[in-house]
Amino acid sequence: MTLTIAIDGPAAAGKGTLSRRIAEEYGFQHLDTGLTYRATAKALLDAGLPLDDEAVAGKMARNVELAGLDRSVLSAHAIGEAASKIAVMPAVRRALVEAQRAFSQRGPGTVLDGRDIGTVVCPDATVKLYVTASPEVRAKRRYDEIVAGGAAADYDAIFEDVKKRDERDMGRADSPLRPAADAHLLDTSEMSIEAAFQAAKTLIDAALQKKI
Ligand code: CDP
Ligand code: CDP
Repeated sequence: MTLTIAIDGPAAAGKGTLSRRIAEEYGFQHLDTGLTYRATAKALLDAGLPLDDEAVAGKMARNVELAGLDRSVLSAHAIGEAASKIAVMPAVRRALVEAQRAFSQRGPGTVLDGRDIGTVVCPDATVKLYVTASPEVRAKRRYDEIVAGGAAADYDAIFEDVKKRDERDMGRADSPLRPAADAHLLDTSEMSIEAAFQAAKTLIDAALQKKI
Protein backbone atom coordinates (compact mmCIF):
# COMPACT_ATOMS: atom_id res chain seq x y z
CA MET A 1 0.00 0.00 0.00
CA THR A 2 1.33 3.42 -0.95
CA LEU A 3 0.96 6.18 1.60
CA THR A 4 0.01 9.52 0.13
CA ILE A 5 0.14 12.90 1.82
CA ALA A 6 -1.95 15.62 0.15
CA ILE A 7 -1.06 19.25 0.84
CA ASP A 8 -3.23 22.05 -0.52
CA GLY A 9 -3.51 25.76 0.06
CA PRO A 10 -3.22 29.20 -1.51
CA ALA A 11 -0.10 30.82 -2.98
CA ALA A 12 2.81 31.33 -0.55
CA ALA A 13 1.11 29.51 2.33
CA GLY A 14 4.28 27.45 2.78
CA LYS A 15 3.11 24.28 1.01
CA GLY A 16 6.33 23.68 -0.91
CA THR A 17 8.63 24.27 2.06
CA LEU A 18 6.50 22.00 4.25
CA SER A 19 6.16 19.28 1.58
CA ARG A 20 9.90 19.07 1.02
CA ARG A 21 10.53 18.73 4.79
CA ILE A 22 7.85 16.04 5.09
CA ALA A 23 9.15 14.09 2.07
CA GLU A 24 12.64 14.15 3.58
CA GLU A 25 11.39 13.11 7.03
CA TYR A 26 9.42 10.09 5.78
CA GLY A 27 11.62 9.15 2.79
CA PHE A 28 8.72 9.82 0.38
CA GLN A 29 8.82 11.16 -3.19
CA HIS A 30 7.55 14.72 -3.63
CA LEU A 31 5.68 16.36 -6.52
CA ASP A 32 5.02 20.11 -6.55
CA THR A 33 2.01 20.00 -8.89
CA GLY A 34 2.17 23.77 -9.49
CA LEU A 35 5.27 23.01 -11.56
CA THR A 36 3.24 20.88 -13.97
CA TYR A 37 0.97 23.89 -14.68
CA ARG A 38 4.01 26.16 -14.94
CA ALA A 39 5.82 23.75 -17.33
CA THR A 40 2.75 23.64 -19.58
CA ALA A 41 2.54 27.44 -19.56
CA LYS A 42 6.26 27.82 -20.32
CA ALA A 43 6.05 25.38 -23.24
CA LEU A 44 3.18 27.43 -24.72
CA LEU A 45 4.99 30.74 -24.19
CA ASP A 46 8.27 29.38 -25.63
CA ALA A 47 6.46 28.08 -28.73
CA GLY A 48 4.64 31.40 -29.17
CA LEU A 49 1.29 29.61 -28.89
CA PRO A 50 -1.89 31.25 -27.57
CA LEU A 51 -2.88 30.79 -23.93
CA ASP A 52 -6.59 30.76 -24.68
CA ASP A 53 -6.84 27.74 -26.99
CA GLU A 54 -7.90 24.84 -24.79
CA ALA A 55 -7.16 22.09 -27.35
CA VAL A 56 -3.60 23.38 -27.88
CA ALA A 57 -2.98 23.84 -24.14
CA GLY A 58 -4.38 20.36 -23.39
CA LYS A 59 -2.00 18.82 -25.92
CA MET A 60 0.95 20.64 -24.32
CA ALA A 61 -0.15 19.39 -20.89
CA ARG A 62 -0.11 15.78 -22.13
CA ASN A 63 3.55 16.19 -23.14
CA VAL A 64 4.77 17.46 -19.75
CA GLU A 65 7.46 15.22 -18.25
CA LEU A 66 7.44 14.99 -14.45
CA ALA A 67 11.14 14.11 -14.31
CA GLY A 68 13.29 17.20 -14.26
CA LEU A 69 10.66 19.78 -13.31
CA ASP A 70 12.68 22.58 -11.77
CA ARG A 71 11.16 25.62 -10.02
CA SER A 72 14.23 27.75 -10.74
CA VAL A 73 13.59 27.62 -14.51
CA LEU A 74 9.82 28.01 -14.06
CA SER A 75 9.75 30.78 -11.46
CA ALA A 76 9.25 33.82 -13.75
CA HIS A 77 6.23 35.96 -12.87
CA ALA A 78 4.93 35.72 -16.46
CA ILE A 79 5.00 31.91 -16.26
CA GLY A 80 3.04 31.97 -12.97
CA GLU A 81 0.43 34.28 -14.49
CA ALA A 82 0.10 32.12 -17.60
CA ALA A 83 -0.07 28.95 -15.45
CA SER A 84 -2.92 30.38 -13.43
CA LYS A 85 -4.79 31.22 -16.66
CA ILE A 86 -4.47 27.80 -18.30
CA ALA A 87 -5.26 26.08 -14.97
CA VAL A 88 -8.94 26.97 -15.50
CA MET A 89 -9.12 24.72 -18.60
CA PRO A 90 -10.59 21.23 -18.03
CA ALA A 91 -8.49 19.70 -20.85
CA VAL A 92 -5.29 20.94 -19.18
CA ARG A 93 -6.40 19.75 -15.73
CA ARG A 94 -7.43 16.28 -17.01
CA ALA A 95 -4.04 15.68 -18.59
CA LEU A 96 -2.03 16.91 -15.61
CA VAL A 97 -4.22 15.20 -13.00
CA GLU A 98 -3.69 11.87 -14.77
CA ALA A 99 0.10 12.26 -14.55
CA GLN A 100 -0.14 13.45 -10.93
CA ARG A 101 -2.29 10.44 -9.93
CA ALA A 102 0.21 8.05 -11.50
CA PHE A 103 2.97 9.76 -9.50
CA SER A 104 0.97 9.46 -6.26
CA GLN A 105 1.13 5.65 -6.53
CA ARG A 106 4.93 5.51 -6.39
CA GLY A 107 6.50 3.70 -3.44
CA PRO A 108 7.22 3.82 -0.63
CA GLY A 109 5.02 6.89 -0.33
CA THR A 110 4.39 10.29 -1.87
CA VAL A 111 3.77 13.90 -0.93
CA LEU A 112 1.88 16.01 -3.49
CA ASP A 113 1.22 19.70 -3.02
CA GLY A 114 -1.06 21.98 -4.99
CA ARG A 115 -4.63 23.27 -4.98
CA ASP A 116 -6.80 20.19 -5.63
CA ILE A 117 -4.80 17.25 -4.31
CA GLY A 118 -7.13 16.31 -1.45
CA THR A 119 -10.30 17.09 -3.40
CA VAL A 120 -9.58 15.78 -6.92
CA VAL A 121 -6.14 14.24 -7.52
CA CYS A 122 -5.93 12.00 -4.44
CA PRO A 123 -9.35 11.93 -2.73
CA ASP A 124 -8.24 8.78 -0.84
CA ALA A 125 -4.95 10.25 0.42
CA THR A 126 -3.71 8.86 3.74
CA VAL A 127 -3.47 12.36 5.24
CA LYS A 128 -4.75 15.68 3.92
CA LEU A 129 -3.45 19.03 5.10
CA TYR A 130 -4.86 22.41 4.08
CA VAL A 131 -2.10 24.92 4.74
CA THR A 132 -3.04 28.56 4.83
CA ALA A 133 -1.98 31.98 6.13
CA SER A 134 -3.47 35.47 5.88
CA PRO A 135 -3.00 37.26 2.52
CA GLU A 136 -0.87 39.91 4.29
CA VAL A 137 1.51 37.29 5.71
CA ARG A 138 1.71 35.45 2.37
CA ALA A 139 2.47 38.66 0.48
CA LYS A 140 5.18 39.51 3.03
CA ARG A 141 6.73 36.06 2.56
CA ARG A 142 6.88 36.53 -1.23
CA TYR A 143 8.27 40.05 -0.70
CA ASP A 144 11.01 38.77 1.63
CA GLU A 145 11.90 36.03 -0.86
CA ILE A 146 12.39 38.55 -3.68
CA VAL A 147 14.39 40.97 -1.51
CA ALA A 148 16.55 38.09 -0.22
CA GLY A 149 17.28 37.27 -3.86
CA GLY A 150 18.73 40.76 -4.27
CA ALA A 151 15.89 42.25 -6.36
CA ALA A 152 13.63 45.22 -5.63
CA ALA A 153 10.06 44.41 -4.62
CA ASP A 154 6.81 46.33 -4.23
CA TYR A 155 4.77 44.97 -1.31
CA ASP A 156 1.47 46.55 -2.43
CA ALA A 157 1.77 45.07 -5.94
CA ILE A 158 2.60 41.64 -4.48
CA PHE A 159 -0.36 41.88 -2.08
CA GLU A 160 -2.73 42.67 -4.97
CA ASP A 161 -1.24 39.79 -6.94
CA VAL A 162 -1.78 37.35 -4.06
CA LYS A 163 -5.43 38.39 -3.78
CA LYS A 164 -5.95 38.10 -7.54
CA ARG A 165 -4.37 34.63 -7.55
CA ASP A 166 -6.64 33.57 -4.66
CA GLU A 167 -9.73 34.77 -6.50
CA ARG A 168 -8.78 32.88 -9.64
CA ASP A 169 -7.85 29.68 -7.73
CA MET A 170 -10.94 29.71 -5.50
CA GLY A 171 -13.38 31.01 -8.12
CA ARG A 172 -12.80 28.68 -11.05
CA ALA A 173 -15.51 26.17 -11.96
CA ASP A 174 -13.19 23.16 -12.43
CA SER A 175 -11.43 22.02 -9.24
CA PRO A 176 -11.52 25.27 -7.25
CA LEU A 177 -9.17 25.65 -4.29
CA ARG A 178 -10.97 24.58 -1.12
CA PRO A 179 -10.20 22.31 1.82
CA ALA A 180 -11.35 18.70 1.42
CA ALA A 181 -14.01 17.78 3.99
CA ASP A 182 -11.50 15.50 5.74
CA ALA A 183 -8.48 17.85 5.56
CA HIS A 184 -6.67 19.08 8.67
CA LEU A 185 -6.43 22.88 8.63
CA LEU A 186 -3.03 24.39 9.40
CA ASP A 187 -2.94 28.19 9.63
CA THR A 188 0.74 29.12 9.55
CA SER A 189 0.24 32.93 9.81
CA GLU A 190 1.91 32.97 13.22
CA MET A 191 4.08 29.89 12.75
CA SER A 192 7.74 29.49 11.89
CA ILE A 193 8.62 26.89 9.26
CA GLU A 194 9.80 24.58 12.05
CA ALA A 195 6.58 25.02 14.07
CA ALA A 196 4.47 24.29 10.98
CA PHE A 197 6.54 21.17 10.29
CA GLN A 198 6.13 19.90 13.87
CA ALA A 199 2.36 20.49 13.75
CA ALA A 200 2.13 18.66 10.42
CA LYS A 201 4.29 15.79 11.70
CA THR A 202 2.00 15.27 14.70
CA LEU A 203 -1.04 15.04 12.39
CA ILE A 204 0.73 12.75 9.91
CA ASP A 205 2.11 10.41 12.60
CA ALA A 206 -1.37 10.04 14.10
CA ALA A 207 -2.86 9.19 10.66
CA LEU A 208 -0.06 6.75 9.76
CA GLN A 209 -0.45 5.03 13.14
CA LYS A 210 -4.07 4.24 12.25
CA LYS A 211 -3.12 2.88 8.79
CA ILE A 212 -0.22 0.62 9.75
O1 CDP B 1 4.58 26.54 -1.89
P1 CDP B 1 3.94 27.81 -1.42
O2 CDP B 1 3.74 28.81 -2.51
O3 CDP B 1 2.69 27.58 -0.64
O4 CDP B 1 4.93 28.48 -0.36
P2 CDP B 1 6.51 28.31 -0.12
O5 CDP B 1 7.23 28.60 -1.37
O6 CDP B 1 6.78 27.01 0.56
O7 CDP B 1 6.75 29.44 0.97
C1 CDP B 1 6.76 30.80 0.63
C2 CDP B 1 7.80 31.53 1.47
O8 CDP B 1 7.34 31.63 2.82
C3 CDP B 1 9.16 30.83 1.54
O9 CDP B 1 10.18 31.81 1.40
C4 CDP B 1 9.20 30.22 2.92
O10 CDP B 1 10.50 30.18 3.45
C5 CDP B 1 8.33 31.18 3.72
N1 CDP B 1 7.63 30.56 4.87
C6 CDP B 1 7.68 31.15 6.11
O11 CDP B 1 8.32 32.19 6.23
N2 CDP B 1 7.04 30.61 7.19
C7 CDP B 1 6.31 29.49 7.06
N3 CDP B 1 5.70 28.96 8.11
C8 CDP B 1 6.23 28.89 5.79
C9 CDP B 1 6.90 29.45 4.70
O1 CDP C 1 2.68 30.85 -8.33
P1 CDP C 1 2.13 30.19 -7.12
O2 CDP C 1 3.10 29.86 -6.07
O3 CDP C 1 0.90 30.85 -6.65
O4 CDP C 1 1.52 28.81 -7.59
P2 CDP C 1 2.15 27.45 -8.13
O5 CDP C 1 1.97 26.42 -7.07
O6 CDP C 1 3.48 27.59 -8.72
O7 CDP C 1 1.09 27.09 -9.27
C1 CDP C 1 0.94 27.90 -10.43
C2 CDP C 1 -0.54 27.99 -10.78
O8 CDP C 1 -1.01 26.68 -11.14
C3 CDP C 1 -1.42 28.44 -9.61
O9 CDP C 1 -1.76 29.79 -9.71
C4 CDP C 1 -2.68 27.61 -9.75
O10 CDP C 1 -3.68 28.35 -10.40
C5 CDP C 1 -2.30 26.45 -10.63
N1 CDP C 1 -2.37 25.15 -9.93
C6 CDP C 1 -3.56 24.47 -9.94
O11 CDP C 1 -4.54 24.96 -10.50
N2 CDP C 1 -3.67 23.25 -9.37
C7 CDP C 1 -2.63 22.69 -8.74
N3 CDP C 1 -2.76 21.47 -8.20
C8 CDP C 1 -1.41 23.39 -8.67
C9 CDP C 1 -1.31 24.64 -9.27
